[in-house]
Amino acid sequence: MEKFVLILLPALIATSGAKESVYARIGEKVVLKPPSINGLSRYVYWTFHKEDGFSLAWSNPYGGKNIAKVEPWKDKLTLSDDSLVIDNVQPEFFGTYFCKIESAIQNVHFHSIELIKLDVSVNPANPLLPGESLSLSCTVDYPKKPEIHWLNPRGEKKGQGTVTVKVTSQDDGMWTCVVAEEKQVKMPVKVMGLSPAPVLPHYTSTSSRFAVPCSIPHPITWEQIKAKGVQEVHWQFFPATSSGLNSQRLFTLSLDSLSWKEDQTRDLKPASDPEKRNLELTRKLGRVDDRGDYVCTMKFKNGLILNRTVHVEVLQITSSPGPHLLSGQQLNLTCSVGQPLPSDLQLRWTQPKPAAQPGLKSDQHSARLTIPEVSTDDGGLWVCGLWQGETQLTSAAIRLTIDPKVSVWTLVMACSAAAIVVLLLLILALVLHRRRRRKMRHLRHQLCRCKKYVLTISWTGEMAPNSHLHSLTLIRGGI
Ligand SMILES: *[C@@H]1O[C@H](CO)[C@@H](O)[C@H](O)[C@H]1NC(C)=O
Ligand SMILES: *[C@@H]1O[C@H](CO)[C@@H](O)[C@H](O)[C@H]1NC(C)=O
Repeated sequence: MEKFVLILLPALIATSGAKESVYARIGEKVVLKPPSINGLSRYVYWTFHKEDGFSLAWSNPYGGKNIAKVEPWKDKLTLSDDSLVIDNVQPEFFGTYFCKIESAIQNVHFHSIELIKLDVSVNPANPLLPGESLSLSCTVDYPKKPEIHWLNPRGEKKGQGTVTVKVTSQDDGMWTCVVAEEKQVKMPVKVMGLSPAPVLPHYTSTSSRFAVPCSIPHPITWEQIKAKGVQEVHWQFFPATSSGLNSQRLFTLSLDSLSWKEDQTRDLKPASDPEKRNLELTRKLGRVDDRGDYVCTMKFKNGLILNRTVHVEVLQITSSPGPHLLSGQQLNLTCSVGQPLPSDLQLRWTQPKPAAQPGLKSDQHSARLTIPEVSTDDGGLWVCGLWQGETQLTSAAIRLTIDPKVSVWTLVMACSAAAIVVLLLLILALVLHRRRRRKMRHLRHQLCRCKKYVLTISWTGEMAPNSHLHSLTLIRGGI
């Protein structure tokens, strides 16, 4: 009886009242999703323009499905559950889509979705200099206009539909067009500037490689920079120790060859690949006199200046009285950047042999360590790390040499030994001196005899005209 009644009941037809709108740009992928309907076994039909219009796709509860394969729909449609997925939306795809869902208990639901064309553009598309004008447009091709607005990269609302702004460096990033509070289209805007963003001071140490970063952010190219009328690129240094007024120009970039010319030598080396937009300065090790501000500047013909200041702090360990000590001496080690550190940074010491000074914790936070009496076990590498939470920003190191202390008794022994050696040397010198004098006297005897002999020869030489003997005569004459 019940079964009979069911069969006789006319099919219930439900049509969703409000027409749903979906916004899409040409080329986008969209998913047209009907409201969820209970019941597992159902038939789903998708048509275009009219309820009984062109059949785009259908599926039945037994796993069968069919999708339109004619142009322009060919290869662009798929069914995912009940949703119709359109890949690469074409201009002729904008219009009304109907979805009919028949469930097993013979309820029929009609649902329609309006696919509306959205146009989004940003002009100009290439990178801008700060101060240049940018036009952002987000419009809908439909009589009933939805609410449209733009959000800048910081998420601030910036007017509706079409917006024109004079850009600043803060406008660099993703702009978002929001349509009817649901559809979002992200558009990248590139404003020329230099990296890195100015954040914390740049911490380095006298034991670390020294590098001052500066680069032109990707994807800006030198061609684009030159097209904007770049006039000069240079590095300047403002030492921390001076009053701040006497800056030094370090390097100037030759724009034709993209090679650096050194203005002031500080043993710094500019990166070898400025053509890859890397403007970094480096040295093998940091020095205390590197403390200060490094400014990387790009000047344009219209007077605009882009610059980036890198504030450099150099961590150094100093030892009082010095790196060479005798055991038992008092030692003060100071680790510092030359001024108080911000409260979120800590210093941590590492000793060469932690057992040698158990009183000192390895995470000692103070900038100064005092060891009342050093031992030879304190010799070696002392490291002071600068930490921000669990991140090490930099570390400095010092190598201490500690010799064992010489006792008074050892000193006396050493002195006596030295005295004996000196005495022996003196005796030796005396003996040698006397022997030498004796030898000299002996030599002089021989020499006298020799003189006589020469005289004899020369006299014979006069009798026999021989040149050799003649010259011997001359030598004698010289004596
Ligand atoms: C950096 O550029 C600003 C203008 O953008 C300028 O006022 C400032 O003086 C420049 N700094 C240096 C060190 O050149
Ligand atoms: C170490 O520091 C203390 C306290 O400032 C000072 O009295 C002492 O003279 C210093 N010792 C050395 C060797 O510098």
